[in-house]
Amino acid sequence: MNIGNLKLNNITVLAPLAGITNLPFRLIVKEAGCGLVCTEMISSNALSYGSQKTIDMMHTCAVEKPVSVQIFGADPAIVAYAAKMAEDAGADILDINFGCSVKKILKSGAGAALMKDPEKTKAILNKTRAAINIPLTIKIRSGWDSSGNDAFQISQIAEDCGVDAITFHPRTATQGFTGRSDWSLIARLKEQVSIPVIGNGDISEPQDAIDMLDQTGCDAAMVGRAAIGNPWIFSQIISLIENGRFPTVPLEKRFSTMKKYVAASVEYIGELHACRMMRSRLSWFVKGLPNSSRFRESITKIRTLEKADALIDDYLDFLMKQSQEDRQV
Ligand SMILES: Cc1cc2nc3c(=O)[nH]c(=O)nc-3n(C[C@H](O)[C@H](O)[C@H](O)COP(=O)(O)O)c2cc1C
Repeated sequence: MNIGNLKLNNITVLAPLAGITNLPFRLIVKEAGCGLVCTEMISSNALSYGSQKTIDMMHTCAVEKPVSVQIFGADPAIVAYAAKMAEDAGADILDINFGCSVKKILKSGAGAALMKDPEKTKAILNKTRAAINIPLTIKIRSGWDSSGNDAFQISQIAEDCGVDAITFHPRTATQGFTGRSDWSLIARLKEQVSIPVIGNGDISEPQDAIDMLDQTGCDAAMVGRAAIGNPWIFSQIISLIENGRFPTVPLEKRFSTMKKYVAASVEYIGELHACRMMRSRLSWFVKGLPNSSRFRESITKIRTLEKADALIDDYLDFLMKQSQEDRQV
């Protein structure tokens, strides 16, 4: 699978998830076999003012590459300027958000608002294409009604402007995350453009990705919510494609990944901030395990890496002992 001149290792892609797909999360997803990781969406306006906090959101490292940096904005010159900043910061792909339907973003004319503004879309894409050398992609929704016509129109413009791939989450802008995404629209888009189409929406387990690829002919599968707590979904998809089955994740692997996630977060944002963040995030990884509510309760006050590691180890010990006892019965 190629996006422009960039070859991906496999056809799985991590969705941009605001507040979640920071560098530490991307590192565990990468280790779990994902072909392309993405940052969360980053404001082109804030980049252009030089906001250090926003610039830091583009921070990348060799291990996670290739990485796609997603930006949003409505001003062609500012988006193009921010795109160049992302390229200079080490992005391998520059993605522009055409799907966000949060009120504040829509009011600024960015995100899904662009799906009803073909002229502005053209200006943004032409200026951005001219500003960067790395592959340029866009991420769209179906548009403002369920016909998909907005998506088809914007995609044609994108292809004409030299965009290298389109990610399509076929829900309308007003739909939020309700209902189901309409994969038949992905199949129709795939027939209409000759650049790669990355399908997205409602891949909850590995088989869903296979179904999406089969039903739509899309070139790659993007996973968002299902990767939260199960970063291994990416290698599971590849294993299912290659071997017709996938192994379950051993408990030890699950727990060592949790420890890596905490350690990387501490390094990235500092111990106290990371521990506060991990109080909710570690529970993603233990959903459905025996006594997980007790573990969740135990981590609500963690303040240090040492304490987080100790609680993770204790819970793993408990689970291992329990499974030994179960085997003996
Ligand atoms: C918490 C959360 C944050 C998201 N943030 C972004 C974002 O920053 N940029 C974007 O293009 N889409 C964002 N999305 C949408 C996802 O990228 C994806 O399109 C959507 O979740 C559908 O895929 P899924 O069914 O695999 O989750 C977000 C979704 C969620 C649930």
